[in-house]
Amino acid sequence: MVSRSLTNAAQTLLDPEPAAEPLIRLESIRVSYALHGGLGKTVLDGIDLDIRPGEFLSVVGQTGCGKSTLLRLILGAETPTAGRIVVDGSEITRPDRDRGYVPQKYSLFPDKTVIDNITFGLEVEEFSLLTRFLPRYYRRRKDFRAEARRQLARMGLHASDASKYPDQLSGGMQQRVAIAQALVMKPKILLMDEAFSALDPGTRTGMQKLIRQVWKETGTTVLFVTHNIAEAVNLATRVIVLAKNPEAEGSRIALDVPAADSQVVERIEKATGHADLES
Ligand SMILES: Nc1ncnc2c1ncn2[C@@H]1O[C@H](COP(=O)(O)OP(=O)(O)O)[C@@H](O)[C@H]1O
Ligand SMILES: [Mg+2]
Repeated sequence: MVSRSLTNAAQTLLDPEPAAEPLIRLESIRVSYALHGGLGKTVLDGIDLDIRPGEFLSVVGQTGCGKSTLLRLILGAETPTAGRIVVDGSEITRPDRDRGYVPQKYSLFPDKTVIDNITFGLEVEEFSLLTRFLPRYYRRRKDFRAEARRQLARMGLHASDASKYPDQLSGGMQQRVAIAQALVMKPKILLMDEAFSALDPGTRTGMQKLIRQVWKETGTTVLFVTHNIAEAVNLATRVIVLAKNPEAEGSRIALDVPAADSQVVERIEKATGHADLES
């Protein structure tokens, strides 16, 4: 034990830039679902993954290989059948404000205005239904709305959009609001599940630029699930491919590569089995 910590100390002295501690650590993760008739179905198996603070990680793989499951695990919305998920040093058991989530669509409350959608998370975190009658609530509500307007502007939306309802907005604008809704909580981790997949190509390119800018400005760690290999590579600092393990039932990490790797696209295509991921 002692010699081990001495070795670590010596290593720290020798290493001018010791690697940052992982912000997210997945240890020996397995996810199985019970099926009718008794037999289970294993979706993920043997997943070990360290993600460092500030990384932009893209997750690529065929439909049904477990990408959304992986994201929901890190969100804390699902618990693994085996293994542990540690975020910032603690094992997670439920979603919390440290982790924001943006799905493909339908994440906004249709009966709330844009600004009420964005402030919702802040309000429920600080006030219960009962305490919403206190003067303090009205003061804080002003702060929340000011912060929501800042997020809206950052997302390139107009002040006049604040009072609109989601169905009055285009798909791209709705996704901007969904991102604002996540960012207003100042999450350390932003989880995006095919968040741009339903958008037309022009809108999608704009959203890609926007999310890169948000990542650079905030230093948020981003996990970005996508079917699109070009999108995965252009946005991320690192790409992982989830694919079925030929020797087991569930998917594992078939490739883990820096996005700057000169052969990155070829390697991803090979790891996904040259599948047509867009279909
Ligand atoms: N709650 C569940 N019960 C049973 N099977 C599930 C459940 N959630 C996901 N699955 C199955 O797990 C597999 C992986 O799903 P998912 O993570 O959504 O894949 P992807 O996002 O890569 O398309 C699929 O075969 C899906 O049917
Ligand atoms: Mg999915």
